[in-house]
Amino acid sequence: MSSIRSMTPIFRTLAAVCLTWGLNASLAHAEGDAARGEARAASCAACHGPGGRSLNPSVFPAIAGMEPEQMVTLLKAYRDGDKVNPIMSPQAQGLSDQDILDLAAYFSNQ
Ligand code: HEC
Repeated sequence: MSSIRSMTPIFRTLAAVCLTWGLNASLAHAEGDAARGEARAASCAACHGPGGRSLNPSVFPAIAGMEPEQMVTLLKAYRDGDKVNPIMSPQAQGLSDQDILDLAAYFSNQ
């Protein structure tokens, strides 16, 4: 009994460490990195304009300042074929979930 009681603080510490790691890992995954997004966004500027401020919004929608959740939904829809556009769909093909979060973080701050 006494040995179990003396182990308890160790288990408590381990549980706390695991919880902290787990939370950090899931937060890191759910958050976009605007700096990585900026690097990834170079190709987007060709159509959507610098920083997503379209120079020709009737053809290429402005995406600067878009809510991150909205951009994530739209990019996944193009990537996964739920939304199809002959110009935009191929642009989304190579994007990972993390790329999409990063792009959304970047463009929402433009
Ligand atoms: C070759 C031109 C081109 C490139 C490059 C391009 N897009 Fe697009 N994008 C379009 C067009 C055209 C549309 C409008 C498609 C439609 O009407 O469904 C669009 C639509 C979008 C939309 C939806 C906008 C809205 O309001 O509905 C988002 C978000 C988007 N693009 C993000 C990106 C991102 C991020 C990149 C870079 C990874 C990118 N695009 C690269 C042409 C492009």
